[in-house]
Amino acid sequence: MSRPVTLTLTLLAGLALGYALGVTLPSVIWRRPLTKRSRRPSTLGGPSPTDLRVVNGVAGLIGNTPLVRIPSLSEATGCEIYAKAEFLNPGGSPKDRVALSMVETAEAHGELRPHTASCLFEGTVGSTGISLAMIARAKGYLCHIVLPDDQAAEKYALLEKFCAEVEKVRPVSIVNQDHFVNVARRRACVYDGQGDLDGGHRGYFADQFDNLANYRAHYQSTGPEIWTQTHGNLDAFVSGAGTGGTLAGTALYLKQHHPSLRVVLADPQGSGLFHRIKHGVMYAPEEAEGTRRRHQVDTVVEGMGINRVTRNLAQVLVPGLAHSHNGGVPGTPWVDDAVRVTDQEAVWMARYLVNREGLFIGSTAAVNCVAAVRTALTLGPGHTIVTILCDSGQRHLTKFWNDDYLRAQGLDVTFPDDLDFLGADA
Ligand SMILES: Cc1ncc(COP(=O)(O)O)c(C=O)c1O
Repeated sequence: MSRPVTLTLTLLAGLALGYALGVTLPSVIWRRPLTKRSRRPSTLGGPSPTDLRVVNGVAGLIGNTPLVRIPSLSEATGCEIYAKAEFLNPGGSPKDRVALSMVETAEAHGELRPHTASCLFEGTVGSTGISLAMIARAKGYLCHIVLPDDQAAEKYALLEKFCAEVEKVRPVSIVNQDHFVNVARRRACVYDGQGDLDGGHRGYFADQFDNLANYRAHYQSTGPEIWTQTHGNLDAFVSGAGTGGTLAGTALYLKQHHPSLRVVLADPQGSGLFHRIKHGVMYAPEEAEGTRRRHQVDTVVEGMGINRVTRNLAQVLVPGLAHSHNGGVPGTPWVDDAVRVTDQEAVWMARYLVNREGLFIGSTAAVNCVAAVRTALTLGPGHTIVTILCDSGQRHLTKFWNDDYLRAQGLDVTFPDDLDFLGADA
């Protein structure tokens, strides 16, 4: 071969190699697993393929939320603390996943048909109602939401903007027929009695507490997303429970892939679940006669804490059902530990995070972050912990972020400079 031809071929080969490296290297670097050695992602990471996705309609915006590292909590504990930014869902919370899953499951079973006069009914403290109301608009349903009358005003306003019918009821115990869940179920029955499926319209009670499409949404999306985002490199998953869907679905998926992962329940004061996990009995000290201030769960936290085992929670707590997810083989528990979080700790954590990180979060996200720090302190430096930022503080301006309201509950509203209130060194 003549010299010029050889030179041209060498040049072409060089160009091809350069092009191939140029195309593949950035994606190799970007996809590098979060190993314990390479665990400081740069601030400006650049877009990932999911950031740049093009989607169809509002449903396409649900899920695939980023995982955000929280520098101050990580540095204070010597661990890596990450949180799933669920407040970035279009309806502002992980309940978008659940609402879509419940509606699509009902449609698949022929219980609902889009663009009929069918009406979605739900009893909720707000987030699921907002997500259902959003999906209802997108799919041509009506929506009727029943919720306690002591929730943050933003939630009622948002529901109305999504054209939902809003029914406020007094907060009472679940055994009372006037509990928001029981009222919603009744309203759906009455509406259903007037309609007929062939004519198109009917009443559908979504029933997030006991509808298994709830935990399945997290099993099918939240769990796999966390697994992909961490490349399986995580030591603990921390989450509170309202219906238990997030905890059950995500824990089941992650533990099936990583059996030694620690799943930790974050439980606000007034909830009985902490005792259920620690001692096998549902109990909250606030339930003791004479000390209770509120019906339901006695806390300023809106959306977490419960005093019964819902069907979704039963998937990970009731032995027979829990074993069914293990091929029927009794194994290690799906939920390994529980952390109790006081209202004061949640308030201080939310204030610490907005002050230090610019992260403006709601009350349940604050509970999760307190429990994530406690879990990190228990595990010791060098571990990776993932939790959930459920919603934004913007949804709680009139309650959890209202100083007068908090002071009236006997809570201190100062902004802590460090994490001393949790015994962490920040
Ligand atoms: C703001 C918020 N965070 C967390 C939760 C708890 O999630 P889950 O119902 O999956 O236990 C809820 C439940 O309604 C909620 O509204």
